[in-house]
Amino acid sequence: MNFEAYKTAIRGLLGDKRYKHSLCVSRMAVHLAHRYGADEKRAETAGILHDIMKDLPREEQKKLLRKYELPLTEVEQNTPKLWHAILGAEYIRRELGVTDPEILEAVRYHTTGRENMTLLDKILFVADFISDDRDYPGVDEMRKAAKNSLEEAMIDGIAYTVKDLAEAKRPIHPDTIAAYNHTILQSRL
Ligand SMILES: [Fe+2]
Ligand SMILES: [Fe+2]
Repeated sequence: MNFEAYKTAIRGLLGDKRYKHSLCVSRMAVHLAHRYGADEKRAETAGILHDIMKDLPREEQKKLLRKYELPLTEVEQNTPKLWHAILGAEYIRRELGVTDPEILEAVRYHTTGRENMTLLDKILFVADFISDDRDYPGVDEMRKAAKNSLEEAMIDGIAYTVKDLAEAKRPIHPDTIAAYNHTILQSRL
């Protein structure tokens, strides 16, 4: 499938806002791939598809997780916001024929992050935070950070997420903590 076909595939599954977001993330992912020397085509694909399952009602997401026999940890079961990433990777593999493991993993980990993130993982993670449609306090600092280094932007992004979750007394996924520790420690070397 080519980019146009992916756009058609997500168009039927996403609301207007999320559709536009996906286009913006894809564009930003290509931009970051160009800047940091990653494969632009892969970045474009990961960007356009990353939220493909996000507008599916929660109950439908639950059913699909069961149908695909995707096991969830206790934190994941209790954090429905994470489902679309787990589901998205499996959906694009099964239904859209995406086989590239780098793309599948970037989609799978775009919300939590993980230890040892690949360049494409980092690009999608950061692009999702700073795409043109984003407007939250601190987004401009993150855009600036992303010009210096992906890791710097990631640390900002993860710190923001962790703070938010802790303030709301919500569980924090161990992969997010692993991504944070790994990136912090690596960037100090
Ligand atoms: Fe997402
Ligand atoms: Fe997103």
